[in-house]
Amino acid sequence: MTAAQGESGDQEVLAQVSRRWQALDPVLPDPSFPIAAGGERFTAGPPGAPTAVAGCGHWIGEAGTLELCWGTAQRFGLTARVAGPDVGGALDELLSAWHDHLTAQDGLDLDDPDTSVNLSWPSRDVAGVRALVRHGLQPMAVVAVRTGRAALGEGGDLPPGVRIRRAAPADLEAVIGLEHEVVRYDANFGQVIDRPWTTDALRQEAAPALAADEPWVWLAERDGRPVGVLHAQRPADAGWIAGLTARAPVAYNLLTGVSPTERGGGIGAALTARFHTEAAAAGVAVTLLHHTVTNPRSVPFWSQQGYRPLWTIWEISPASTLR
Ligand SMILES: CC(C)(COP(=O)(O)OP(=O)(O)OC[C@H]1O[C@@H](n2cnc3c(N)ncnc32)[C@H](O)[C@@H]1OP(=O)(O)O)[C@@H](O)C(=O)NCCC(=O)NCCS
Repeated sequence: MTAAQGESGDQEVLAQVSRRWQALDPVLPDPSFPIAAGGERFTAGPPGAPTAVAGCGHWIGEAGTLELCWGTAQRFGLTARVAGPDVGGALDELLSAWHDHLTAQDGLDLDDPDTSVNLSWPSRDVAGVRALVRHGLQPMAVVAVRTGRAALGEGGDLPPGVRIRRAAPADLEAVIGLEHEVVRYDANFGQVIDRPWTTDALRQEAAPALAADEPWVWLAERDGRPVGVLHAQRPADAGWIAGLTARAPVAYNLLTGVSPTERGGGIGAALTARFHTEAAAAGVAVTLLHHTVTNPRSVPFWSQQGYRPLWTIWEISPASTLR
């Protein structure tokens, strides 16, 4: 038996979870096995015939990277696969076991403000929500999805005086300036962190993207002045997130931002329409993006653009505040 196959009963749990998920939301993928090599395994239900199985992973990020702008430097994650007649009760058991496991670890400073615990849960699987709340987890962000080839590629009226064009290497500073505005704005909501190295990390991401052939980075300009950006990944670069949905090919919208004084005038919608048009032409089946759930601009905006929650990211920081 390898870690990827799990213990007896795990495959039966996964088969049941697969049926539940397909009934709840057909855009969800088949559930992956939850336990990474070396990770702790938790179960709920009768011994030898679990109804739920979970695994935890500890992740430490590297200073200087963009990944550390999207969350804390140390993250303790739980992957939970829950079936059976009492999903909330089984998840509750798993969360208690995880809490006890974390607090029993030597050498972990769970009070460090740069730590967090997290769990991704299918947004439409509402049976688990009360257990997550009871353990102190908060819905911080969603992975939102837009499906349907027909819906992709719908146009949007260009606001007067505004032009959308593909960005080029010479636009690097304009692109990262606008992207940094997005990080600063999102940092208000407690998950995204504006680090001392944010500009450099954005540069490291944007420079190779802009140097590539036909980059999926678009700028909105008013009278030649950059006022908005949308930076996306083609399916070839979005493999890291493609496993979150059953549909393929997947494109990912990494960052979208409009200058503070230009927000609410249709520029974000025009940039998004351009992205959707190119994604449709490239045969993309779904587009994914992350947004924070308390961002008062992104929540209605992405809904207007045809996105809806697929996964909700439940989180609490510091890690010691998990109950
Ligand atoms: C979220 C964001 C990218 C949206 O871009 P935007 O240009 O503000 O959005 P739009 O103007 O296209 O759409 C929003 C509003 O304009 C309206 N609108 C859409 N098209 C329009 C048009 N052609 N003319 C006038 N208004 C229009 C929409 O109906 C909407 O109205 P509302 O504000 O009353 O709900 C932008 O507000 C932003 O940069 N926010 C801060 C950073 C951020 O949150 N980024 C997203 C992270 S996931």
